[in-house]
Amino acid sequence: MNEKFLVAEAIEARKNAYTPYSHFQVGAALLTADGTVFRGCNIENAAYTPTNCAERTAFFKAVSEGVRDFSAIAIVGGPEDAKSLEVCAPCGVCRQVMREFTDYEKFIVLLGKAQDVNNSETITWERYTLKELLPFGFGPDNLA
Ligand code: THU
Repeated sequence: MNEKFLVAEAIEARKNAYTPYSHFQVGAALLTADGTVFRGCNIENAAYTPTNCAERTAFFKAVSEGVRDFSAIAIVGGPEDAKSLEVCAPCGVCRQVMREFTDYEKFIVLLGKAQDVNNSETITWERYTLKELLPFGFGPDNLA
């Protein structure tokens, strides 16, 4: 896996974020087992609660296309006018969606940073397993 490329894909995905209310823009790039990347952005709503996070947009795009085998996701986020990006951790709901469709001990979550959002050479990232981010989640096995 080219981790820097995946973070760069998340930065590209973030450009489509629809955020007229929070002005906080998130991008995600979800890598499948066969190397396909599904991009996602956050999509807000005037009624607030229908808002969809970037990570879930990426997962739901993939699952709705029949893809369920994932290896990693890169996430970036920051205010819409940000020149640099700091780590943006996924919300609990998105972690739970990841738990549903991945092996949580193996699935990798990359939290991207960029000193200059327009220069991919400045990209860095932190790497976690989903188990580190959601150690005691509720998964399909709990219902088996
Ligand atoms: N957001 C995401 O897209 N992903 C997260 O994991 C955290 C929050 C979005 C939702 C909302 O549009 C904005 O960030 C502020 O919460």
